[in-house]
Amino acid sequence: TGAVTFDPGFMNTAATTSAITFIDGDEGILRYRGYPIEQLAQHSSFLEVSYLLIYGNLPTGAELEAFDQKIRRHTLLHEELKSFFAGFPRDAHPMPVLSSAVSALSTFYQDSLDPFNEEQVELSTIRLMAKLPVIAAYAHKKSIGQALLYPDNSMNLVENFLRLSFGLPAEPYELDPLVVKALDTLLILHADHEQNCSTSTVRLVGSANANMFASVSAGINALFGPLHGGANEAVLNMLRRIQADGIKPEDFMEKVKNKEDGVRLMGFGHRVYKNYDPRAKIIKATAHEILGKLGGNDELLEIAMRLEEKALADEYFIQRKLYPNVDFYTGLIYKAMGFPEKMFTVLFAIGRLPGWIAQWREMIKDPQTKIGRPRQLYVGEEKRDYPAR
Ligand code: CMC
Repeated sequence: TGAVTFDPGFMNTAATTSAITFIDGDEGILRYRGYPIEQLAQHSSFLEVSYLLIYGNLPTGAELEAFDQKIRRHTLLHEELKSFFAGFPRDAHPMPVLSSAVSALSTFYQDSLDPFNEEQVELSTIRLMAKLPVIAAYAHKKSIGQALLYPDNSMNLVENFLRLSFGLPAEPYELDPLVVKALDTLLILHADHEQNCSTSTVRLVGSANANMFASVSAGINALFGPLHGGANEAVLNMLRRIQADGIKPEDFMEKVKNKEDGVRLMGFGHRVYKNYDPRAKIIKATAHEILGKLGGNDELLEIAMRLEEKALADEYFIQRKLYPNVDFYTGLIYKAMGFPEKMFTVLFAIGRLPGWIAQWREMIKDPQTKIGRPRQLYVGEEKRDYPAR
């Protein structure tokens, strides 16, 4: 069968070619379809970036308008899918609720099962973009015992999501333009990141010709892991623990460096970025602006800044090229917007969705795609005979 290369964690293995996202980890560069992340964060919108990632180029005004309108028209969930939320325990984490509901979409849209039906792929794209934020908001509402509102199609995707998450049936919901803008920017920063763990999962599942809903559902489950998207929730839990226990950031750093109980500085380090994470740079500025205006938890921000300052000057972190990543400051911003910790990774999922869709579509059209099937080095028992009994 030929020689097998041993590469645990796929540190050096390119499993695909891709024209979507470019990363230079040494230089701290991130581009979607050639456009620098800094320019997109400043001038574009999440909807436009989604179009760019999925279809390859920036939309014209008319194309963006049509994309927006199509998404608005597909926000409603099947009423039977809504009853699905009642089956979960009240304190369920919204991430597995989200992945289950996304998986269940293929039971409602059975024509979507053929990944080579281009019309259906297009419909699944719009349905996912429209419905995933609604499912996410419902998972949150369910966990706090509040009514599930119907989407309001006079609002765009981000506005609708905020209203469904925080609005009440008896009161008009006032959008805060600062929150809308900040959330939009954070979603842009999360929209794609080439072959990360969840995206590779989406591609691997899709390589078996599984449909888009099944593949994205698998990606959501991968993102839930605390070493991946779950890190934003883990950062806030870490900051709270430091605050509650009255530990000095310096003492916490000692624990991290001594690898006591496997403690890591959550929100630090990245497989690819070894200089800085360009997304973290943009988010840090947003964190100061938002927390200044919305009145976030100053003490937690203070602890985060102290940890960052200490880490950047510490030999342990310098030697290992560990810098704050995208997740280090996002939790503090989400918290200031009013989201509970359990929703943080869900927000990451909403942001990453257009990336997963774009990568799945690229994979399914790529003539080089083969079913993903890594090899192994067997280290188990030699042949042995079942004992005569
Ligand atoms: N705190 C303390 N030490 C760390 C950290 C950290 N956050 N990250 C890496 N190290 C150490 C690690 O112990 C190892 O040290 P040694 O050489 O002494 O064994 C060295 O740095 C290399 O780490 P690694 O685990 O081999 O690196 P990796 O590329 O496999 O892991 C990572 C990358 C992101 C999983 C890791 O840095 C980590 O666990 N960070 C904390 C979790 C986190 O913030 N994840 C979010 C990643 S960015 C967004 C996303 O993907 O969702």
